[in-house]
Amino acid sequence: MTTPTTTFADGSSIPLIGFGTGGSQGPAGADVIASALRTGYRLLDTAAQYGNEAAVGEGLRRSGVDPAEVLVTTKVAGGDHGRRAARTGILESLRRLGLPSVGIALIHWPNPSRGLAIDTWRTLLELREEGLVAHAGVSNFRPEQLQELHDATGQWPEINQIQLSPALPRQEPDAFHRERGILTQAWGPLGTRDGLPEQFAIRTVAAKHGATVAQVALRWAVDRGIVVIPKSSHPDRQRQNLGLSAVRLDEEDRTLLASLDRGEDKAWDSREHEEW
Ligand SMILES: NC(=O)c1ccc[n+]([C@@H]2O[C@H](COP(=O)([O-])OP(=O)(O)OC[C@H]3O[C@@H](n4cnc5c(N)ncnc54)[C@H](OP(=O)(O)O)[C@@H]3O)[C@@H](O)[C@H]2O)c1
Repeated sequence: MTTPTTTFADGSSIPLIGFGTGGSQGPAGADVIASALRTGYRLLDTAAQYGNEAAVGEGLRRSGVDPAEVLVTTKVAGGDHGRRAARTGILESLRRLGLPSVGIALIHWPNPSRGLAIDTWRTLLELREEGLVAHAGVSNFRPEQLQELHDATGQWPEINQIQLSPALPRQEPDAFHRERGILTQAWGPLGTRDGLPEQFAIRTVAAKHGATVAQVALRWAVDRGIVVIPKSSHPDRQRQNLGLSAVRLDEEDRTLLASLDRGEDKAWDSREHEEW
């Protein structure tokens, strides 16, 4: 399966379709991850907070896929914000993953009540300089929170992973990213938290193309140049989510899908929502 790609601001390539690993734990989780890699995924998303980095590393080894071909993403947990803690956090992530470096490192949430996001960002930039992290980015940062990182360091994150699906199209943050060379990555791209799969509009588009609602949601984001990371424990769904080449959406479909927008204020708000 050939996966479409996009590029970071530095010109290096990233698959537009990656694999989410939240909830895939232990030996069974390692099997799920090995299956995803054998299916053809070359971008994995984990986090210290998921407690599954060892399973991701084990899945990578079990898959037989060359680790050099896989972009592994991990994230600094809320409790690891700050200069020294973030460095220790990433080094611990590498140990659990069993990797000498990681493809993408993100700050998981800005957690403004601690006021340590800028220090954490400086540490990720240092780790990138040292080659322990290939690409440095963030997750769940609002435009003004991204601006604060840039004001302090002169560096934009390379990628911002945000909640995004046809139920939450996030046009404004996506435009902000685009203007500054920041890639947008979608978590929860299937919109299950928002009841998206049950919506008449997306079911209508899926039926028209003989596709599944998951494929329509993913195609819609990929067509916007947004990197998606759907999670599935089932090999058939893993294949389905990666195999979007036959699904082509037209203007009429996009108009129908636009009716599903629940509004920017329905996305989790990182001025208040914090995770540790
Ligand atoms: N940065 C953050 O704060 C943040 C927050 C949340 C998630 N994430 C990341 O984003 C990844 C994806 O988000 P998510 O797991 O919340 O949501 P998601 O990938 O949008 O949805 C996953 C759910 O959809 C089901 N599913 C997957 N493919 C399907 C298909 N083809 N047909 C029907 N159902 C399907 C899965 O069930 P089965 O497994 O049973 O197939 C699972 O219940 C996570 O795994 C994690 O890596 C990041």
